[in-house]
Amino acid sequence: MHYRRMPIEVESPEELGYDTITNNLSESSVADRRLRDLGIELDLDDLVLCYGDHLGDPDLRRAVAASSPGIEARHVLVTPGAATALFAVATSTLEPGDHAVVVRSNYATNLETPRAIGAQLDTVDLTFDDDWKLDVAELEARVTPGVTRLVSVTTPHNPTGTVLPHDDLRRIADLAADAGAVLLVDETYRDLAHDGAPPPLAATLGGHVISISSMSKSYGLPGIRTGWAVCTDPARLEVLLAAKEQIVISGSIIDEHVAGRVLAERDRVLPPILADVRERLAIVDSWFASQHTFEWVHPDGGVVGLVRFRPEVDVDEAAFHHRLLADHGTYVGPGHWFELDDRSFRLGFGWPTHAELQAGLDALIAAANDATR
Ligand SMILES: Cc1ncc(COP(=O)(O)O)c(C=O)c1O
Repeated sequence: MHYRRMPIEVESPEELGYDTITNNLSESSVADRRLRDLGIELDLDDLVLCYGDHLGDPDLRRAVAASSPGIEARHVLVTPGAATALFAVATSTLEPGDHAVVVRSNYATNLETPRAIGAQLDTVDLTFDDDWKLDVAELEARVTPGVTRLVSVTTPHNPTGTVLPHDDLRRIADLAADAGAVLLVDETYRDLAHDGAPPPLAATLGGHVISISSMSKSYGLPGIRTGWAVCTDPARLEVLLAAKEQIVISGSIIDEHVAGRVLAERDRVLPPILADVRERLAIVDSWFASQHTFEWVHPDGGVVGLVRFRPEVDVDEAAFHHRLLADHGTYVGPGHWFELDDRSFRLGFGWPTHAELQAGLDALIAAANDATR
């Protein structure tokens, strides 16, 4: 493995210092929450702090399974964050030189871990001009039967917020099966679908499909570092369990207990979060309608979207990002976090207060005026 730090982590707001940012529009989750904010009362005094069930807290696994028809608790492996699940899938599927087809842009780890392994990475690049839609025919052309070991997609997508239609996902699952490849579907934003209940977990599309998600983005609980992988093939799940056991043996009893309690109350906890996300989206929509400097493809899910300067705007993008933070206290996720140029940036509208969101949007215009040539 060849580890190197990714710009998205080096330049993350927590590494920069939250107190250095006034309007934080760089986050990819809803606002961080206290248990009190979620109406959860916990008495941890009696919890025995032992090594836990290696697959993960059974209540939590049941709650994850309850989110999708066709999934049972035995199909769920709890991990320290979705990040560990992604790592376990990549390292258990790929060896140096192996062929992997990965959508780009993407959550950076989905590209970086295959690279760190030394896999041969074939990226399918999404473009603004195609509304960031994945061209399944292009992906199909990259997948080589008997050679490709891993196909990796993210839906709802980070950083664009686009959602892969379920029929496309089914087609990708079928072509991965025909090729003998594992299909990783990063579904970390699944609970933040903007209209209606999300479809069944991608893992229901076959034993070669692994769904990954966590408590971080939709519930605002990244600090309990609790995520999971879901797979209906017992042999494949056993390999992921072996990976987990070599990394951490078992997860944190406290974190998993908290996650289980919150997820068991999903039907009470999630609706106000989703209602708030819709209000925030309305703030961003009316801001977009009020200006001529920036454009985006409207996201279908999640709490991020990819914004770019309109092509006719002649701007010094380095000066823009510098002045945005230095002079206007506002931070966004610059394009280079996602292997794009810095005329684009990820706008996270789920994390700041509504007032900070509005102030941050206004700051984008002010910084653009400062940096326009
Ligand atoms: C698409 C996606 N997957 C996985 C993760 C990792 O999340 P965590 O490890 O906090 O669950 C993130 C975090 O930004 C993400 O955006």
